[in-house]
Amino acid sequence: MIKVAIITISDKGSKGLRQDKSGELLIKMIEKEGWIKTLYLIIPDEKEEIEQKLKEVSDNNIADLILTTGGTGFAPRDVTPEATKNIIEKEVPGIPEKIRYATAENTPMAYLSRGVCGIRKFTLIINFPGSTKAVKECFEAIKDLIPHGINILK
Ligand code: MTE
Repeated sequence: MIKVAIITISDKGSKGLRQDKSGELLIKMIEKEGWIKTLYLIIPDEKEEIEQKLKEVSDNNIADLILTTGGTGFAPRDVTPEATKNIIEKEVPGIPEKIRYATAENTPMAYLSRGVCGIRKFTLIINFPGSTKAVKECFEAIKDLIPHGINILK
């Protein structure tokens, strides 16, 4: 059973100014795989807050997998990849490679996401872009890699 934390990173979402459709979609998709949601949060695009949450979830073994959505683009406040890189112990470049390569078939804009992936303790952390369309495409692109990856992490 894979335990998953979903963290939406959005200034508007965190203030309740926008419905978090991407986070909600991610929850549905992971549950369809038979995985369980152990945490769901919406936080603003604040680097230190993102780092702190990622650390908290990994260090307390709250999830085997953290999926973040949002904050991976070029806007000045997009800092999800930087926060993730600051707290991971090992980078996993193949997962973002697969995400961008496979989903660029649908839109070349896929290459504009700076999302990264890495491991902290026994938790795999993956950054997805923020739109529902992107979340769906990106999850489909890598979901089959996750169970084996998580198995060998422990
Ligand atoms: N990846 C996929 N698969 N599908 C998409 O529609 N949108 C792109 C990109 N990655 C997209 C995608 C766009 S338009 C942007 S700006 C970046 O993700 C960053 O999105 P974010 O800032 O919401 O994280």
